[in-house]
Amino acid sequence: MNKKMLILTVILFFLITYCKTPTPKVVKVESVQPVKEYKMNKAGKKFFEKSCILCHGIIGLADGPVSNSLSKKPNPLRKGKMKHKINFKTIYDIILKGIPKTEMPSFKGDYTPTQREKIARYVLYLTQLND
Ligand code: HEC
Repeated sequence: MNKKMLILTVILFFLITYCKTPTPKVVKVESVQPVKEYKMNKAGKKFFEKSCILCHGIIGLADGPVSNSLSKKPNPLRKGKMKHKINFKTIYDIILKGIPKTEMPSFKGDYTPTQREKIARYVLYLTQLND
């Protein structure tokens, strides 16, 4: 190999090494959060069936024995149908305080905080049922 060829090879080597198009940075897309799933709460179900079904119906579809005689029927306790946000705190607070100026009563004196928590968990479970 003569000198010229050697120089050319070296230049070519550097050209290939440094002029490569940079590999695009991989942008990490935040993975979609899996849908939260609320488990069935047996104790909550018992309390719900004792205190809520009159107005909300046995599985929360607002078809209880007095649903139609309320001045305003509650919305079905289902995702996409409810007025309120579906999360533990919101539901717990509704059970604790009721909804002012509506027929949704407060259950402050009826249940302990732990019992209310169980009812809230059962309501959350109902919200994800198809019907
Ligand atoms: C006397 C009837 C009555 C009883 C008993 C009752 N509710 Fe309600 N509830 C209502 C009405 C009426 C509304 C709708 C209020 C409104 O117009 O915003 C409601 C609304 C709600 C909401 C909000 C729904 C939404 O659309 O966001 C939740 C959650 C709820 N009730 C849970 C309960 C639970 C749990 C119990 C039992 C511990 C219960 N309710 C008992 C009448 C009742």
